[in-house]
Amino acid sequence: MQPDYDDCWLRYDEVPDGDLRESYRRLCTHAYVAEESRELGAVREELRRGLGGMLGRDPHLWQHPPRTVDGFLAVGTPGDMDVVAQAVDEDEIADLDEGGYVITTSEWEGIDTLVVTASSDSGLVYGTFHLLRLMAAREPVADVDIVEEPASPDRLINHWDNPFRGSMERGYAGQSIFDFERLPDLRERYRDYARLLASVGINGVILNNVNTQIPGREEGNEAMEELEGWRLLETRYLEKLTGLASLFRRYGIQTYLSVNFGAPEKVGDLDTSDPNDSEVEQWWAQKADEVYDLIPDFGGFLVKADSEGQPGPYNYDADHVDGANVLARALEPHGGRVWWRAFVYGSHKDRAVQQYDTFEPLDGEFHDNVTVQVKNGPIDFQPREPISPVFGQMPETDLGLELQITGEYTGQHVHACYHVPMWKEVLEFDTDPEGHGKRVKDLFTDEGTGMAGVGGPGEDRNWTGHYLAQANLYGYARLAWDPDLTTAEITDEWVKQTFGTDPDVVETVTEIMHGTWPAVIDYSTGGIGLMHMMYNGSAYLENHYDPGPEEWPGYTGITEDGIGKDRNSKGNGYAQQYPEALAEMYDDPESCPEELLLFFHHLPWDHELDDGRTVVQTLYDNLYAGVEETQRLRDEWRTLEGEIDDERWRHVAERFDEQVEHAGVWRDRLSEYFYEHAEIPDEQGRVPTD
Ligand code: GCU
Repeated sequence: MQPDYDDCWLRYDEVPDGDLRESYRRLCTHAYVAEESRELGAVREELRRGLGGMLGRDPHLWQHPPRTVDGFLAVGTPGDMDVVAQAVDEDEIADLDEGGYVITTSEWEGIDTLVVTASSDSGLVYGTFHLLRLMAAREPVADVDIVEEPASPDRLINHWDNPFRGSMERGYAGQSIFDFERLPDLRERYRDYARLLASVGINGVILNNVNTQIPGREEGNEAMEELEGWRLLETRYLEKLTGLASLFRRYGIQTYLSVNFGAPEKVGDLDTSDPNDSEVEQWWAQKADEVYDLIPDFGGFLVKADSEGQPGPYNYDADHVDGANVLARALEPHGGRVWWRAFVYGSHKDRAVQQYDTFEPLDGEFHDNVTVQVKNGPIDFQPREPISPVFGQMPETDLGLELQITGEYTGQHVHACYHVPMWKEVLEFDTDPEGHGKRVKDLFTDEGTGMAGVGGPGEDRNWTGHYLAQANLYGYARLAWDPDLTTAEITDEWVKQTFGTDPDVVETVTEIMHGTWPAVIDYSTGGIGLMHMMYNGSAYLENHYDPGPEEWPGYTGITEDGIGKDRNSKGNGYAQQYPEALAEMYDDPESCPEELLLFFHHLPWDHELDDGRTVVQTLYDNLYAGVEETQRLRDEWRTLEGEIDDERWRHVAERFDEQVEHAGVWRDRLSEYFYEHAEIPDEQGRVPTD
């Protein structure tokens, strides 16, 4: 029976009659797959599904090389299969990084072969998915020589599931797919989730939300406490997780948990969770032993500490090094890792300043198996932020880059907003242009570093709430694998696999996708560095932190005289946290990039920008331009009617209608708000003045 949900980019539509199909059939109707491991079971299943779909007939899966055929596909390690060993250089394969693979064509006893090989099973899984991706994009495979290795060793999904509540934090795609109470029963959907993740190289999933206790829960509210995510560390739940972990393992994905820093008290009934207390140390060590007994390849713990109501070392007069290291020591004997979030704020008036202030002085003090996980910007997943100054300035610490797949501040999956261009901007950023010159993407290639994508699909038919948001999950993972991929390459792959290869469709969908992020920035912020302003005044876009206009001054620095925050040498010194060349650039409004101007500077409303327009006029113009662009994208989408399947066409068309409407509301709300303070009319008379 077909599942009642979308297969995203793993559609495997049949290849039409023609030379390409003949060539695919000749090389792939027969597949010889090594027998050895459980991952290879996943490979066989995927080949059955993918080749079956695309070739229009079931492939024959062999346990030995077929001899009476014109060609065949071989998947295995050189050690497992002679066919493979003679097609490749075994040393080259052995030298590949974990997860790396080769896809090549060769010949065996006069028969053409297509070989997918690696030294690890996960490499074979990734290589198989890569081959299927080529075929789904209708690329020739009769003469290929592909060598791939992941750039980042850890490519994680922070799946913000609220276990026992059945919901996803900032999920926007419906209820949780995981039913923790019913575990160890497994749903087919878990496997399909694992397939989606493995197909793009994800190798770790943190099963639960970083908010392991419900923010704002009243002390003593036991009914709510029963529903909190920290409970997953209780023995009764750990035991239930084993089946799920083993399912993910088949796809090369390690299981991790978000844990509560107060777990020694909550789960263990100790009197304290002080990281410097020996009983606490022992408790964590025993807990880690227990976890690894049940899940031998467990990845580690993710911790949100001292942030938004979650407990942390500050509760015990300790610091983040003490906190992270006690967990690290517990995990170390098992090869596990602590992912310790840098999203800590509260003690500074402007949260932008706090992370660098808190973490940079601790550089070099974290245990070897601690990764400090830092959001791309210093505030919080805004449509555009400067790059966190922590990057490039903690050379002695393993860092992880946290990106938000979910569109909390980019339209919450009612709006189309493609995040890949934003992430490319982050990854290509030079963290120290006149110093070590490392780009953000260069920082996540060593052992212990990696990328963490926040989000996680929900129970909606399309997994992500908006069909086009599937591209953000896809694109995040592709960038974690290879940050050198261009936006255009990633979009092209995704569109072809999702909507087929008709050039007109590909061009139109691509153009729409690439237009979305700039439009969202414009209509939701005015495009020159303001943030936290996506308030539409209605309850519709709920599950979102939406500071109302009364809170905006704190974020925007708005006054009667002007707008923006002095995060510079005149103000709170945030710009000075960067290396000198960047600090100088940001500190001067003349050299500060226009798109971040008001993030760094409070400027008079009539301050002129390079093109001669004033600050307030630029804000008005960008707000209007964002809405017009969204209308244009909506109209473009409408031209696809009949060119792609009706269900997805209609869904996106309806969402675009809503997006245009919301964008208009946001534009009006913001432009009127700016006018109320500036009292400078829009030169084009669009903003009401009464
Ligand atoms: C945002 C988001 C919260 C989340 C927090 C975090 O503030 O609104 O839901 O908990 O980020 O990253 O921890």
